[in-house]
Amino acid sequence: MKDRILVTGGTGYIGSHTVVELQQAGYEVVIVDNLSNSSADVVDNIEAVSGIRPAFEKLDCLDFAGLDGVFAKYPGIKAIIHFAASKAVGESVQKPLLYYRNNIVSLINLLELMPKYHVQGIVFSSSCTVYGQPDKLPVTEEAPIKKAESPYGNTKQINEEIIRDTVASGAPISAILLRYFNPIGAHPSALLGELPNGVPQNLVPYIVQTAIGIREKLSIFGNDYHTPDGTCIRDYINVVDLAKAHVVAISRILEQKQKEKVEVFNIGTGHGLSVLQLVHAFEKATGVKLNYQMAPRRAGDIEQVWADPTLANQKLGWKAETSIEDTLLSAWKWQLRLREKGIQ
Ligand code: NAD
Ligand code: UD1
Repeated sequence: MKDRILVTGGTGYIGSHTVVELQQAGYEVVIVDNLSNSSADVVDNIEAVSGIRPAFEKLDCLDFAGLDGVFAKYPGIKAIIHFAASKAVGESVQKPLLYYRNNIVSLINLLELMPKYHVQGIVFSSSCTVYGQPDKLPVTEEAPIKKAESPYGNTKQINEEIIRDTVASGAPISAILLRYFNPIGAHPSALLGELPNGVPQNLVPYIVQTAIGIREKLSIFGNDYHTPDGTCIRDYINVVDLAKAHVVAISRILEQKQKEKVEVFNIGTGHGLSVLQLVHAFEKATGVKLNYQMAPRRAGDIEQVWADPTLANQKLGWKAETSIEDTLLSAWKWQLRLREKGIQ
């Protein structure tokens, strides 16, 4: 029998790619998503890619009784990947309580239910945002956690602590915290990808919407940073590569290979790219010229951050594989498909 995995937020951007990778690795997936930032037809697209329809429950992770019912309906869930969260940094500043409630209570509900249903472990979506501007680059998992810049970032820090405290209290569960760097790109089939809500806040969605003519011009936020070309540096990680990190994390939990009951891994490429370098890579990969201008710095931006992924490379046996050109091409193909479908 296939091992059954619960994926919260499984119709979302990273979740949907991960569901496909889990299915292709032989797991049976149950998705819980309240569709607050995704739509039900993602389930059809997952099926179109993998050939397998995942079980889907439209449910809010804040609904404790409802979640209890999901564990009862699908007995033997072995592990959870918890993606479900609100993730817009700016919105979290406007609506902190919404973010604290959604991101924190959802996790608490899952942690409370895990022992009752003998769920072995949880993989949690954390973020490199917990490091703030690191003192040393590339940043390792040992780097100090800096005061969060936003309520969103704070929920990631608090959730990491909640998981640690719960495990330390003797709960019969283990956890892997994956700190993602900047996930970008789409599935090479162009059937799955990111669907930004309104005007994109993140760089690659803004680039592809500009390239296709939805936005007039990309503004590059700041060209006076202390970096070689003056623009900010990030570690852009392909979303399918990122999805695969979850599959190896799940097998590490189920095969009880963890060295500690809570492990943390940076999930990045290990290479930093500036905004300008990314724009040029996009132009090279797609042959599309991008309209852009320099603009003032964006409040709250970190100057530069990229991962030291050695721990994930060595312990998880995971490595980012896809080139930046292929990744940007996948984002572009996804945008072209959205236009074909009349979505964006
Ligand atoms: P996403 O918004 O595409 O996916 C999240 C999914 O969770 C959505 O489908 C949404 O409908 C669902 N959801 C939200 N609240 C829910 C609730 N209470 N109950 C049930 N479903 C709920 O976001 P994503 O980019 O796929 O991010 C997934 C996770 O990774 C999030 O936890 C996010 O904070 C984290 N993360 C994302 C990034 C990034 O750049 N995308 C970076 C670091 C960490
Ligand atoms: C943002 C979030 C971070 C979150 C991450 C992944 C902020 C301050 N941080 O990170 O918490 O974990 O997304 O979801 O929002 N840029 C432009 N023009 C644009 C958009 C972006 O120049 O129109 C630049 C930014 O200044 C930055 C880089 O592109 O230097 C990447 O930006 P973005 O994609 O928003 O990601 P982060 O800021 O790294």
